[in-house]
Amino acid sequence: MRFESVRAVEILDSRSRPTLAVTLAPAGGPPVRAGVPSGASTGTREAVERRDGDPARYGGKGVLGAVGAVNGEIADALTAGEFTDLAAVDQTLIDLDGTPTKSRLGANAIVGVSMAAARAFAQAAGLPLWRYLTPEGATPRLPVPHFNVLNGGAHAPNRLDFQEFMIAPVGAPSLAEAVRAGAEVYAALRRRLTDRGLATGLGDEGGFAPEIDAPEDVLAVIVEAIGDAGYTPGKGGVAIALDPAASEFYREGAYHVAGQVLSTDNMIARYEEIATRFPVWSIEDGLAESDWDGWARLRERLGERVQLVGDDILVTNPTIVADAIGRNVATAALIKVNQVGSVTETLDTMRLCRQAGWAQMVSHRSGETEDTFIADLAVGTGCGQLKTGAPARGERVAKYNRLIEIEAGDTLPYGLG
Ligand code: PGA
Ligand code: ZN
Repeated sequence: MRFESVRAVEILDSRSRPTLAVTLAPAGGPPVRAGVPSGASTGTREAVERRDGDPARYGGKGVLGAVGAVNGEIADALTAGEFTDLAAVDQTLIDLDGTPTKSRLGANAIVGVSMAAARAFAQAAGLPLWRYLTPEGATPRLPVPHFNVLNGGAHAPNRLDFQEFMIAPVGAPSLAEAVRAGAEVYAALRRRLTDRGLATGLGDEGGFAPEIDAPEDVLAVIVEAIGDAGYTPGKGGVAIALDPAASEFYREGAYHVAGQVLSTDNMIARYEEIATRFPVWSIEDGLAESDWDGWARLRERLGERVQLVGDDILVTNPTIVADAIGRNVATAALIKVNQVGSVTETLDTMRLCRQAGWAQMVSHRSGETEDTFIADLAVGTGCGQLKTGAPARGERVAKYNRLIEIEAGDTLPYGLG
């Protein structure tokens, strides 16, 4: 593979902040493009997103430096060489950057080039992206979509501490029927909230953002909405998944939830009670990224009943995930390409999880573009789970629609696997 040109421009993400669009022109083929996502409740060990810090532009959030890195150093390196595969491109980018966190060129610059390069190799091989991303020994599968229907935490201006309440149509017979269930429950939830006089404005990921304090009250109304829409709450129908994003409400060694101050063990007991009362099948970042001992106890207490997903604690980093597998602190990893900063490293992390029997949930970021890369990543790796927001807002729906199109074009199994 040779590249004739590599170009980035500063565009807007779904939160109206600047991000990068990268276009690669592979020799002998049409150009390919990627849009770079950006998080709000980020883990401290994520690859470093490069921002200009110039207060005169976008409140310091401009990405002209990262754009310059793509159009300068990265373009020079990629147009000068020949590459056998994506791993070779990613290694070139990592070596060129030279830092452990991709802070010099910017992880946002590198990940955009890496995603676009994956598309270039898929195109050259005559394969859809998802099939190019299928690792040796893995079976492609349509993932269970996890629709984030109610937003709090760093993603909404309400007083709800838990960040994400997701509905997962685990029992749906197909991806298209799962999307339908998600949309129907979302509509039923809007009616329930309206009936109670609660606001139905949306948070960053398209879920409603009403003023409700206690997570249990949110869960109760979601269970009602699942029933209203004609589905059975639970893994046989529509189950619930939580991402409290607990690092955001962990202060001075305690968890602050709806006005209560909870120790780690009290927080774990709260989750046990939640999992008993409600059809919650998965909890992501139930505890803070610094609370590794707490995570080990959480897994002991709940790991058999509930999937325990690490996001901020693992940051899709293969070294950290290997450590976490050895220390038994979770049962699944959230997978965000921009958290580690390249597609190859993302696939490495997913392979480590598969080998250890850990589940994986591919994820969007709260700041997104219309790029649908993660839909193909979830299908190709066959990991069985994707979260990409509510069944609303174009940048979220684009990913679900991409899944529908993949299902329509190929015979693939649907479900957790
Ligand atoms: P972020 O949130 O993209 O704002 O980091 C998503 C998540 O916590 O899963
Ligand atoms: Zn999370």
